Amino acid sequence: MAVVIVVGVQWGDEGKGKIVDLLTERARFVVRWAGGANAGHTLVVDGKKYVTRLIPSGILRSGVTCVLGEGMVIDPAVLVEEIRAFRSQGFIKKDSDLIVAERAHLTLPHHREIDRLREERPGGIGTTKRGIGPTYESKAARIGLRVGDLYRPERFRARLERHVAAIAPYVRELGGAAPNAAEIASSYLALAEEIRPFVGDASRTIHDAVVRGENVLFEGAQGVLLDLDHGTYPFVTSSSTTAGGACAGLGIGPTLIDHVLGIAKGYATRVGDGPFPTELSDATGELLRKRGNEFGSVTGRPRRCGWLDVPAVRLAVRLSGIEALALTKLDVMAGLDRVKLCVGYRLGGRTLDEMPLDPDDLAAAEPVFEEMEGWPDAAAGAVPPGAARFVARVASLVGIPVWATSWGPGRLQTVVEHNPFAG
Ligand code: GDP
Ligand code: IMO
Ligand code: MG
Repeated sequence: MAVVIVVGVQWGDEGKGKIVDLLTERARFVVRWAGGANAGHTLVVDGKKYVTRLIPSGILRSGVTCVLGEGMVIDPAVLVEEIRAFRSQGFIKKDSDLIVAERAHLTLPHHREIDRLREERPGGIGTTKRGIGPTYESKAARIGLRVGDLYRPERFRARLERHVAAIAPYVRELGGAAPNAAEIASSYLALAEEIRPFVGDASRTIHDAVVRGENVLFEGAQGVLLDLDHGTYPFVTSSSTTAGGACAGLGIGPTLIDHVLGIAKGYATRVGDGPFPTELSDATGELLRKRGNEFGSVTGRPRRCGWLDVPAVRLAVRLSGIEALALTKLDVMAGLDRVKLCVGYRLGGRTLDEMPLDPDDLAAAEPVFEEMEGWPDAAAGAVPPGAARFVARVASLVGIPVWATSWGPGRLQTVVEHNPFAG
């Protein structure tokens, strides 16, 4: 039995979907706790590609229940579209295959509109424009609407009226049209009927499953460096992406968690604005983007590419209590003569072992690189010696083991040293 949290340790898109899909072979529940449709997790099984947005990446496994937890923000139109798409491909056969938390907050049309309008002005940070920040703002301001409200229509309408009255002046100030409560109510209450069979108490369900001894996997979205409290603020998302966020977001005690795993790419990417000290603006960066197909799975934006930043990974490992790492996309780096690792930072005569988070310090800090020999393409199932040395060096610098390496998008293109669900 194990209760395992998996988080991305960089700025998202580390390959969480692929690794979570792999791990769920033995899981009974796969749970998302934060974020919303800003996530895009890619799974490739038998040559077929699937992208999950709100639904956790256990969806392809029969016998796994996927849970959208209380800390998430849910756009019902995206959820209904996702449910229909997976159903049409033979997944979500039973209502009990999916649980949608009744206390998760709803993204409303003007949340997306606010996000978009702000991004069009100076000061935008390069969000996914999915309304994530504005939905969490409504939640914190206590004017948000929740999934459970949809099934008490009178209450939904009354709360929506109050919500719209509170938010309309701000939408107008940004140049948007004032939200129409009656229109929102009619479209959301219609969408609610398709979600109704899945709505429940995610927190209680997962608590009871853990007590019964079931395997539960918590799937992080985004990455630890995008955490609202501990990431590269203000260039962050609006939720808790650390492992601790799983307990808060789902409403589960930390004493119930057995393990925390991290996922990192062998290099680094970032989509959206914000500091990225190891960014490559040269031919090598372009090569990584091309070979790694580094274009956003939600927005299609080109991802910025750079070398693996060990001090940033150390920070993420500390913030989330990560015990072991999976390193993905090592095949993308194959063929490079030399590869680089950022092993520390220099700032005002000092050497830093963690990436500094103060924006001025981060701008002034100089990454210190170590160069290593590259490696050729891997023969099936065998890690080339050059790559094995790179992986061992990362493990030694970060101070935790690497439990798996990934050599392609497919479920089977993975070399697993130790599956944490295997005991
Ligand atoms: P996530 O958000 O962390 O789930 O990651 P994304 O799905 O947004 O982005 C990762 C991309 O890399 C997807 O297109 C995956 O199919 C792909 N991918 C994952 N692991 C590997 C790997 O080891 N090698 C290659 N070439 N692609 C991979
Ligand atoms: P997955 O789960 C990569 C980034 C955005 C932007 C910042 C804030 O697929 O790894 P938001 O829309 O959340 O308000 O945008 O966070 N971002 C991601 N980057 N992968 C993601 O998700 C991301 N989710 C948000 O690009 O910089
Ligand atoms: Mg992604």
